[in-house]
Amino acid sequence: MTAQALKGKTLSDGLRAELHERAQSLTEERGTPPQLAIIAIGGDPGSQVYLRKKLEACREVGVETTVESLPAGIPEAKVFRLMAKLGQDPDVDGIILDQPVPEPLDAARLLEAIPPEKDVEGVTPHNTGRLYLQKSWEGIRRSEALVPCTANAIAHLVLETKAEVAGRHAVVVGRSTIVGRPTAHLLSCLDATVTLCHSRSRHLDRVIASADILVCALGKTGVVQGSWIKPGAVVVDAGVNTADGAVVGDIDAGPASARASWLTPVPGGVGPLTVTFLLFNTVLAAERRTKKTLG
Ligand SMILES: NC(=O)c1ccc[n+]([C@@H]2O[C@H](COP(=O)([O-])OP(=O)(O)OC[C@H]3O[C@@H](n4cnc5c(N)ncnc54)[C@H](OP(=O)(O)O)[C@@H]3O)[C@@H](O)[C@H]2O)c1
Repeated sequence: MTAQALKGKTLSDGLRAELHERAQSLTEERGTPPQLAIIAIGGDPGSQVYLRKKLEACREVGVETTVESLPAGIPEAKVFRLMAKLGQDPDVDGIILDQPVPEPLDAARLLEAIPPEKDVEGVTPHNTGRLYLQKSWEGIRRSEALVPCTANAIAHLVLETKAEVAGRHAVVVGRSTIVGRPTAHLLSCLDATVTLCHSRSRHLDRVIASADILVCALGKTGVVQGSWIKPGAVVVDAGVNTADGAVVGDIDAGPASARASWLTPVPGGVGPLTVTFLLFNTVLAAERRTKKTLG
């Protein structure tokens, strides 16, 4: 078996075209385009690459961006003041605090300053609560939650395969609040039976061997072996690592592709769709705010 490449390109292109139209309608309705404010502190090189991709994608669909570049070592109070200003700015629809933030800044504390309706990465406590209070996919869609972008991308990639999800065993390796944990929740809302693994999980090989759907979000190569994959499994590799100067996922694509039915490429799988769901959340946030303001 050779796995089919799970790129989500059709989904991403379709969504971006739809978002372009929605952004244009909003611009006509209220006189200003949807606006995303990005706070980048300290110029982390990894974040800079991702930042450029976000800016490019925003331009493509007609979302205006402002980048607040702050130096490492900036006092926390100053960051809070900026966040409060952006939170109150009627023209700003979405706010992102680029992570990681340099020490001693505390990202968790800073994130609390983002108003939930502008939390387009779905990372504030309020939004997280809204998401985890839902038990079904439909419930999430009807709720006010803004879903974390990478988890949303992963769940949509799984749906793209048309493989059965309800009642199947989904294994998510990695329990971060931004990727692994919300992905596990979304898959549970799609009625999969979910196992969430982490660095202390025992018998990872046996757990993975029983996965109909496998999501890897470790940020490490060489842990999950392609030979562990259940034949025919849907495999989503969210990992972004560098090996010999190349970007690679968590799983060795060769052996994984020989067993999986679907496998996301790295790069070109989860990453681009994550950016699309950031655009999605920004336009959605702008529509909701406009509806509240203009009625
Ligand atoms: N493509 C995209 O758009 C996108 C977006 C975000 C992140 N990413 C990538 O996704 C990866 C994960 O990101 P993250 O922010 O979730 O990372 P993270 O916060 O470092 O979390 C990594 C998780 O992997 C687990 N882990 C580490 N070593 C393990 C092992 N040997 N066995 C089992 N589990 C292990 C950790 O377990 P513990 O909890 O026990 O420490 C932790 O839960 C990274 O490569 C990141 O670059 C991609």
